[in-house]
Formats: sequence, C-alpha cells, structure tokens
Amino acid sequence: MAQYQLHVFVCTGGDTCPTQGDTEKYVKILRAGVAQAGRHREIRINKAGCFSQCGNGPMMVVYPENVWYGGVQESDLQEILEAHLLGGAPVRRLLYAPGVPGPNKIIKADKKA
Ligand code: FES
Repeated sequence: MAQYQLHVFVCTGGDTCPTQGDTEKYVKILRAGVAQAGRHREIRINKAGCFSQCGNGPMMVVYPENVWYGGVQESDLQEILEAHLLGGAPVRRLLYAPGVPGPNKIIKADKKA
C-alpha cells in the first residue's frame, strides 16, 4: 500500500500558474479541507514546480489517478475537494486534456525563444 491514497500537486512554482491564481492559497484551502475531513493521512496536498503546461493554469494533478486539472479557479476548489478528493469522482468540467503527451506550453507571441 502506498503512503498516500491520493497525492495532489498544485503548480505554485512556475512562471504562469501563480499569476493566474493564488496557488499558494489553493494549497492552504485544500490542506485545510482534507484535514477537516480527517483524511490528511490518506490525501497529501503538495506544492509543485512547473508541469510544463504553462499558460493553461492554474494547474493541478492528482496521482496515482493521473487526473489533470487546468484553469482551476479558487471557486472550483470546494467542488474538487468534495467531489474528487473526498468523493472519488473527478470534476469533468475542469479536466485538462490537451491530447498531446509531454509539454503543452502556450507560447506567448511576445516571448523570445
Ligand atoms: S507554470 Fe504551471 S505548468 Fe508551468
């Protein structure tokens, strides 16, 4: 058995996700919700660096399910917490599915290569 049933990573350390939402606050909200539900020994919420999907954030990923969320707003967190992390049903409307494995950065026109 793994140490944690679910391991949630929130992109807090990249160049774009933290500008698209207060991802440090996201971590605090999710940790508090997991603790309040008494599931902190089963569900781990971690800060993470860039997932190389920049511009599609704020991004989160849940392992071992390999469920990716993009464009997550603070107002979405309670639904992700209740439906998915505690309830086991991913929030389909927030799924990130670019269809291309690997890096999927949105290249800004003004960004130099
Ligand atoms: S900054 Fe979040 S995926 Fe790159």
